[in-house]
Amino acid sequence: MDKKKNIIFIGIMGSGKTTIGKRIAKNLNYDFIDTDNEIEKITGMSISEIFKKEGEIRFRSEETHALKRIVNKTPVVISTGAGIVLKNQNREILKNLGTIIYLDADIDTIIERVSRNKKRPLLNVNNLRETVEKLIAERRELYLEIADIVIDTGLVRFENVVNIVEKEIKKNSLL
Ligand code: S3P
Repeated sequence: MDKKKNIIFIGIMGSGKTTIGKRIAKNLNYDFIDTDNEIEKITGMSISEIFKKEGEIRFRSEETHALKRIVNKTPVVISTGAGIVLKNQNREILKNLGTIIYLDADIDTIIERVSRNKKRPLLNVNNLRETVEKLIAERRELYLEIADIVIDTGLVRFENVVNIVEKEIKKNSLL
């Protein structure tokens, strides 16, 4: 298996992993996998239900199971849940799975994007900005630790982000 053929998107909620990932998969003619969707399919529960009924620890272990299953399906574009990097084991699997693209964005853009969607249990809070800032502070180093490529999606329009990602993928595959 040519592991480096897989493309993996990591980054905070609202950074564009799923939207950009789907488009890149289409353009490359690869299958697209979203780890949250995989977990919902396997458990038969929504992400919110898993957090509510089983707790975050169960969800984190489902993320590991989802990644282990993906190892056999390649080449794919993978969009990951923002907290997937918290477990050391997940970071190790991801590093061996393919080229990792960290999508970054400024806090205002993130807040604006996540406010549109209420499906994120960790963001059902009154102090949204403070919570997102805390999550970024806890996770940024972990994203940077495993990223092969870092792209800012904040002020850049969707089509331009797609172009930048495609250029970076080409550059990276020549290394
Ligand atoms: C989470 C991010 C979510 C989802 C779950 C937990 C997190 O994915 O996996 O709600 O820990 O930040 P997105 O990054 O797609 O929102």
